[in-house]
Amino acid sequence: MHSLQQALDGLLGDELDTPSPIVVRETMQRNIERMQALADERHQHLRPHVKTHKCLEIGRLQLAAGAAGITAGTVGEAEVFAAAGFDDIFLAYPVWPAGTKGRRIRRLAERVGLRVGVDSFESVDALADAMGDAPDRLQIVVEVDCGARRSGTTAEQAGRLAAHARARGLVPVGIYTYPGHGGSRPEDRVGAAKDQDQELTAAVRALAGVGVTAEVVSAGSTPTVEYSTSEVITEVRPGEYVFCDRDNVRLGACTDDQIALFVASTVVSTQVPGQAIMDVGTKALGREGNPQRGYGGVAGDPAVLSRLNEYHGYLQVPPEQSQPTVGTVLPVVPNHVCPVVNSFEELVVTDAQGASVERWPVAARGLLG
Ligand SMILES: Cc1ncc(COP(=O)(O)O)c(C=O)c1O
Repeated sequence: MHSLQQALDGLLGDELDTPSPIVVRETMQRNIERMQALADERHQHLRPHVKTHKCLEIGRLQLAAGAAGITAGTVGEAEVFAAAGFDDIFLAYPVWPAGTKGRRIRRLAERVGLRVGVDSFESVDALADAMGDAPDRLQIVVEVDCGARRSGTTAEQAGRLAAHARARGLVPVGIYTYPGHGGSRPEDRVGAAKDQDQELTAAVRALAGVGVTAEVVSAGSTPTVEYSTSEVITEVRPGEYVFCDRDNVRLGACTDDQIALFVASTVVSTQVPGQAIMDVGTKALGREGNPQRGYGGVAGDPAVLSRLNEYHGYLQVPPEQSQPTVGTVLPVVPNHVCPVVNSFEELVVTDAQGASVERWPVAARGLLG
């Protein structure tokens, strides 16, 4: 029997409502320790991205294992973790401090060690304005693009941005990049990590050229971290490694037995032959996938969800298999775990036998700005 099915079977006596996100604690802890060991071995700081779990208890486990601080994706995430005592936060996003965000960033920067990403002169100016008479409380990390073509400036421009931040009284501490182009096909992971090394190395030189020492040289991501070996890198920011998912297994970035989160889901209808409808749709799993690869799979089973509506998942039952009966509860493994966590109020955390259940709030759920 698949280990996730075993955990699920243990839980079923406990009035488990479905759909529910189930975390197998030992597997998650092994993932946390493995990533920490990898970073330690390379003398890099580990700064896990909390957008994956949005959960204070899990952030604390990462710090307890040795993480240097956390990475957040939104001001709201940073606020929730800061309020709970996390005091070293990198908001790795080209944040634009309009609306209430300028005030909120200043308040955070006055309370905790806060670094924010920038990739434009305009955002440096807006952040300096937001910080008023305390610009030196805010650390700036310049984002460079290493090929993902999302955000980030050129290595050359990074020096000028750092110099501008310094001129405005902010504290430029280094550079970061996100090698997102290594997260689509397995064969792209090595190349994206190489691009990352090259751009970061050039940006370190550009900052040195304006007299700024890049104390922080921050690299991504679960798919590329294995290859992020360059001496220039001081910290890594993987997020998904904590739970893993089908996409990372497909990329070769994690293995099936490292999957620590699944969605317990019930078969609710079997009226159409060759198909079982499960109570997980896009609201639980997100929209990532395609009909061939599926939008989620059942642990230890070749069957995939070939289509989703909001509350319905279409499980294609291979011809050689019999349809599961209505009421059967199955462990559905998501393609991309991050949107799944953001769909639920709490995580059901259990051991490999499905005993000792705890419920941990997804404290930063829905805080998208
Ligand atoms: C800026 C940044 N850093 C780090 C990460 C973590 O990458 P992953 O979730 O693939 O581990 C992400 C993911 O979106 C990101 O956008």
